[in-house]
Amino acid sequence: MSTEQQGGQKTAASNIAPATGKLGVMVVGLGAVATTLIAGVEAVRRGLAKPIGSLTQMGTIRLGKRTDNYSPLIKDFVPLANLNDVVFTGWDLFEDNVYESAAHAKVLDKDMLEQLKPYLETIKPLPAVFDQYYVKRLSGIHVKKGKNKRDLADQVIADIRAFKKTVDRVVVIWAASTEIFLEPTAVHQSIEAFEKGLDTDDIGIAPSQIYAYAALSEGVPFANGAPNLTVDIPALIDLSKKNAAPICGKDFKTGQTFMKTVLAPALKSRLLGVSGWFSTNILGNRDGEVLDDPQSFKTKEESKLGSLEYIFQPELYPDLYKNIYHKIRINYYPPRGDDKEAWDNIDIFGWLGYPMQIKVNFLCRDSILAAPIALDLVLFLDLAKRTPELRSIGIQEWLSFYLKAPQTAEGLYPEHDIFIQSMKLKNTLRHIMGQALITHLGLEYYD
Ligand SMILES: NC(=O)c1ccc[n+]([C@@H]2O[C@H](COP(=O)([O-])OP(=O)(O)OC[C@H]3O[C@@H](n4cnc5c(N)ncnc54)[C@H](O)[C@@H]3O)[C@@H](O)[C@H]2O)c1
Repeated sequence: MSTEQQGGQKTAASNIAPATGKLGVMVVGLGAVATTLIAGVEAVRRGLAKPIGSLTQMGTIRLGKRTDNYSPLIKDFVPLANLNDVVFTGWDLFEDNVYESAAHAKVLDKDMLEQLKPYLETIKPLPAVFDQYYVKRLSGIHVKKGKNKRDLADQVIADIRAFKKTVDRVVVIWAASTEIFLEPTAVHQSIEAFEKGLDTDDIGIAPSQIYAYAALSEGVPFANGAPNLTVDIPALIDLSKKNAAPICGKDFKTGQTFMKTVLAPALKSRLLGVSGWFSTNILGNRDGEVLDDPQSFKTKEESKLGSLEYIFQPELYPDLYKNIYHKIRINYYPPRGDDKEAWDNIDIFGWLGYPMQIKVNFLCRDSILAAPIALDLVLFLDLAKRTPELRSIGIQEWLSFYLKAPQTAEGLYPEHDIFIQSMKLKNTLRHIMGQALITHLGLEYYD
């Protein structure tokens, strides 16, 4: 066996069901991210633009030894749904179709939207499960009515079943607003308690959890692009395993946290200390407006704060990282729309404790960064569902690469380092395809 590679039980690949037929993607929340995803996929299908930022569409994977020079495209290596087979629908509390909502979000330019208009207009939202208690800054009328939360879950199940009749497989992804901060309570601890809570309208069950419950009950994978608690509870983890409906972590890792999980591993790898990390943002889209509410911001803040703590491991490196002052601010600033501007000031120290500073000023486009992540999550969750070894394990930790708050098995700390996450993702793909893993040892080249 090569010393740069490991394992390679040549078994799995043939077990993965092919991606034949249509993949139905149900998006909760047809706002800026969702419409940029849907319009983007259609633009790529028509050859109007490239799917930049998408690992499933543009990424390669090295197989075998470095001297083999063999790095196929990921989409040619694993059986992923073809973009031409992807069909979209979704839910929202506003009645706007995807064209109208994309025009409102102002992420894509008018020329592009006009070309796509006939297609985008055909996608109209189903009525949402919504309660303003969980998202203070929104109110809408395109909302399901039900006698209790169980009734609402049943209505979402009916939506999923109806869509299933028109496609071959379904994935649900939450790209809706950030809900207020919720902590797990008794109702979240088991499937039985959760179902009872649906019957009794337990306040601990947020709308995102009603959609997730409906999807998982139907054996449909569920991804969460926002930092809400949603499936991060024993009841829904159990349901995911029971019904072979894969789930992953939460909150798309796009701008500032993406940069954090790139820079922090670099500093740590060189044993440079950090005394402070101040992150601030201005953002003017509807997401920014929702996050202006302190309770929704708290959910986001918790999700953003975790990464540094886990990457720096202060318990192992107290001299370097024990006293980091980590502060995050998001300011709603309408003139910028979806074009977020993020600043990071990082106070670091080196040899003998001498201080230095790093400044990062990221002028990004939130939804342009999030759309390819949403696409990859959907395609990879569908792959997981067709892979016998993955479909019943619940949490797909190998998808942490895309998420600010990775989800793990109980007792495991989450891996936030983007380079470890990327290696883990690719090794998972090699593994399920029966290829040798790549360890980067490489001694054999010097024999
Ligand atoms: N864009 C990014 O870089 C990024 C990164 C990480 C996370 N996110 C998260 O992704 C989510 C979407 O972001 P966005 O910029 O598209 O926001 P947006 O406000 O443009 O869109 C959210 C949509 O969800 C709808 N909605 C809210 N609650 C709903 C419910 N219960 N059911 C159905 N629809 C509902 C809203 O009406 C709105 O149309 C947000 O939670 C955001 O925090 C975005």
